[in-house]
Amino acid sequence: MLEQSATSWHQKTPGASDILTTGIHQQPTQRSWLLVTENSTYALGVTEEEYVLNLYWGARLSFFSDIPAASMPPDRSSQDVSLALAPEEYPAFGGLRFGELAAKITFADQTRDADLRFHDAEIGEQDGLPALRILLQDAVYPLQVALLYQVDVANDVIIRSACFTNQGADPIVLERLFSAVWHLPRQVMPRRLTTLGGHWAGESRLQQQQVVTGTTLLESRKGVTGSHAYPWFALDTQANEQQGEVYFGTLAWSGNWALRIATTITGATAIGGGIHEHDFAWTLAAQTSFTTPDFVAGFTLDGMNGVRRRLHRYVREQVLPQKQASQPRPVLYNSWEATTFDVTEEGQCLLAERAAGLGVELFVVDDGWFPGRVHDRAGLGDWRVDPQKFPHGLRPLIERVKTLGMQFGLWVEPEMVNADSDLYRLHPDWIYHFPQRPRSEARNQLVLNVGRQDVQAYLLTVLDQLLTENAIDFIKWDMNRPLAEPGWPEYSARGGDAREIWVRHTQGIYAILDALRARHPDLSIESCSSGGGRADLGVLRRTDQVWASDNTHPDARLFIQEGISHILPGRVMGAWVTDMPHDRMVNEIPVQYRFHIAMMGALGIGGHLLHWSDEDLAEATRWIAVYKSIRHLVQDGDQYWLLSPTASKGDLAAVTSVAPDGSEAVLFAFRRSNPFWEPLPFLRLQGLQPATRYRVRELGNASASEIVLSGAALMRRGLELPLQRGSYASCLLHIRAEA
Ligand code: GLA
Repeated sequence: MLEQSATSWHQKTPGASDILTTGIHQQPTQRSWLLVTENSTYALGVTEEEYVLNLYWGARLSFFSDIPAASMPPDRSSQDVSLALAPEEYPAFGGLRFGELAAKITFADQTRDADLRFHDAEIGEQDGLPALRILLQDAVYPLQVALLYQVDVANDVIIRSACFTNQGADPIVLERLFSAVWHLPRQVMPRRLTTLGGHWAGESRLQQQQVVTGTTLLESRKGVTGSHAYPWFALDTQANEQQGEVYFGTLAWSGNWALRIATTITGATAIGGGIHEHDFAWTLAAQTSFTTPDFVAGFTLDGMNGVRRRLHRYVREQVLPQKQASQPRPVLYNSWEATTFDVTEEGQCLLAERAAGLGVELFVVDDGWFPGRVHDRAGLGDWRVDPQKFPHGLRPLIERVKTLGMQFGLWVEPEMVNADSDLYRLHPDWIYHFPQRPRSEARNQLVLNVGRQDVQAYLLTVLDQLLTENAIDFIKWDMNRPLAEPGWPEYSARGGDAREIWVRHTQGIYAILDALRARHPDLSIESCSSGGGRADLGVLRRTDQVWASDNTHPDARLFIQEGISHILPGRVMGAWVTDMPHDRMVNEIPVQYRFHIAMMGALGIGGHLLHWSDEDLAEATRWIAVYKSIRHLVQDGDQYWLLSPTASKGDLAAVTSVAPDGSEAVLFAFRRSNPFWEPLPFLRLQGLQPATRYRVRELGNASASEIVLSGAALMRRGLELPLQRGSYASCLLHIRAEA
């Protein structure tokens, strides 16, 4: 049931010739529905045969009469019959279906053929958003599938999921249960597909290709979202950053996932996505339900920046925990790169003093604070304070940090154990394993079976205790290796299907995070998986920021940040200034340039502050103060990428973040090298009010003069950037409407 059914919606529905308002409407004379957002329309309807088809998705349509009634397409040939050609909203394996599938189901009598037909529809509200629920019922078996469509009207986004309910007495096995299939209109003009690819320390880099006939598969089979691909796509037709038609979508799921972008020779594209079917099956016991993760998708005519603006707002308004999302993200210091495992009370206090002096607001002790953790071969699993490193517990350090006016944060990696840990010695059966196979280690770690109730209860107890006994404001939740040997012998012995672990693991993590947040409502959480390996919208429902990458090299960061900026707003994207001691060239990059790169997100410092010169410390103090004065724009403004690092092969970048009312903006610009000493073309800004006069001032440069220009001039004529002539030049401009 939807939270609140609108009982009178059909009376309020306008006639066929009336202009549509935003929201959800039922076509007065047909069984079809229109989901109307500020700038898009999504239409679906039921055919005579009771199939639910997509009727349209694209730019906003204003009249009911523009949407045809749902009908099955004619057979093209015996090889391409009607059902194979119909753009079904939720096609399940069965009958003559050969296109993109949403589900594959096996019934108790071994029938592997589903026949889901329209049963009922309801319009109401879900989680504060208008929602449509379409009920499908199998023609013979007691299986119901509820398709949920929530509509974020302001952000042109639709959130789809499917809920399977076994209404009978026999189990039903679900072998694919995607969240949705989306259909794009057939068109002659080829579309371009943009995705994000990468690996550890090189996440979320832009990939673009022309869509041709066939299927592109994006996936993770590692048990975690992964850094090789991000569950996001954009399909555009001749769009650029500022304008053009783009369809985009992302999966809110932190376990194995698949996104399949399938195009036929006629230019019809269907995108299916959800939990990966690889090594997976879910047994739906009698009278139980299973709900898929959300698949969020939208449409814009405003190019790739339009995608950013919509997803950023959606993430801030609908996904992130709202209490923390209404507060500025603090400037943090993290000790990992400075001290690695060499964590001591005294050493951390010294770093904390330096950090506080710079204006840091949150001091985070990373790995190395628990027993045995002097290297990465021991300790994971034993989440208590090392009495050797902290003879009086964490309290003295925390008190010092708080006296210095900062919040305190701590690193944990709850899903993992080292074989050399008390927890593993006590519970060797708590990890994923097959009895006759070796237990593969990566970074000397094994993965706890978080699908088990006892493991979940243990983790919740120890983490809750840690947070209750210590005044911890923030945890960094890490996850540093993939799942392997995915066995669960006890479950198999009880007749369970251990292939469920791929989902149960993620459900377990979500349950622990939800319980921790409920018990500690002021806690903030950073999601990390060796950097940006778990940064999806599923984990962001219960975390406040992500560590975008272990790679803090400014050159690498521009690419990583450009990629992830298509989805994550500035407040979510953790970015640090570090020393990166492995690359001597980094130390030659001006402090200003390194700060400007990190100031584009949730700013942090990760360098060894005891080794920083007085000059560098003074400069860092200045930039942190500047950051605090502009973070409302960086973290919560509308982001426009004006120069793409990918397009310029890393040489140039320019990004502006604008207050939603256009009254204020910041602009970051970067030029890595300029061997010909050439001036840049004027840079045209975006998002300002044409008729407003703005004061433009370079921040952090006391001798810079201020100029006044209209929004029209800034956006049409453009701005000459005050970039130095040499390599690694950057600038930060503040643009404010005249009072
Ligand atoms: C991972 C994280 C790092 C750091 C280390 C600690 O690599 O990505 O930021 O926390 O673990 O072991």
